[in-house]
Amino acid sequence: MRRLVAQTRLHPSDLVLPMFVIEAAESRPIASMPGVLQHSLDSLRRAATEAAEAGVGGLMLFGVPEVRDATGTGATDPNGILNVATAAVAAEVGDAVVVQTDLCLDEFTDHGHCGVLDAAGRVDNDATLERYAEMGLAQARAGSALLGLSGMMDGQVAAVRDALDAQGHTDVAILAYAAKYASAFYGPFREAVDSQLTGDRRSYQLDPANRREGAREADLDVAEGADVVMVKPALSYLDVLADVAATSPVPVWAYQVSGEYAMVEAAAANGWLDRDRTIAETVLSIKRAGADAVLTYWAVELADRLTRGQLPGTDPR
Ligand code: PBG
Repeated sequence: MRRLVAQTRLHPSDLVLPMFVIEAAESRPIASMPGVLQHSLDSLRRAATEAAEAGVGGLMLFGVPEVRDATGTGATDPNGILNVATAAVAAEVGDAVVVQTDLCLDEFTDHGHCGVLDAAGRVDNDATLERYAEMGLAQARAGSALLGLSGMMDGQVAAVRDALDAQGHTDVAILAYAAKYASAFYGPFREAVDSQLTGDRRSYQLDPANRREGAREADLDVAEGADVVMVKPALSYLDVLADVAATSPVPVWAYQVSGEYAMVEAAAANGWLDRDRTIAETVLSIKRAGADAVLTYWAVELADRLTRGQLPGTDPR
């Protein structure tokens, strides 16, 4: 009876797995994200195949380069780690799963900011748009199907869309991190990408105090041509997610970020939370609030449990 009347269901295809790739022969664990790896190219390929076999809808790739500079040259270099990894994964999984790439400079700059800096050391919004346009083209050429614009520069969706269209990449889609808040929950991610950042991103990411601003940012991104809009983090921003979902003409996704993952894993490791139930409840709640799909580091595990019919209140395939 509960299954018959359940209003929200999870399915493997509405889960997207974020993955990290480094320039090393061996993969490395991320201490603050137990179970998540910085992949070598080989282990990335294997894990991508596993994820596709588990039935997840997409993979979101993050590159962690060895060398960084002021403008993030590695992001636009066809031989840069993210572009090489994208081509490798796209060749491996084909159309079985949507290959997506993080489009942001923070992993590639030696100062760790999401954009380039002006003479005064501030993030230069419009100069960054030019780099994003180049980065979008490099990722499209590498085989990314969906570009995840996570840098929060004003005008980034239009800048990348225009560049893609001008070069004939009309079928490459844009996922706009529309409502991305300046959050403490990104803590473990900074370890995952060996972040060089000192300071914070509050001059370009949203203030956690502001609800209306989230929906406004989503509207702007849709007007600029976003194919999907995202709210991030997820669990602390379900009100924003519900607002965006209520009016968005395009799919709305949410990112269950590194700190949300670490929090549950740490509590579960101490025996303070029932790990499996907590994971299922958080992702189900994010969908209930309005997400059409969820980026989560538990994507493969959840997809496997769904396929085996082991999630209460959810749909076996
Ligand atoms: C920026 C980016 C970040 C995350 C995804 N893309 C970090 C930030 O904005 O500080 C965080 C993801 C997570 O915490 O899981 N490229």
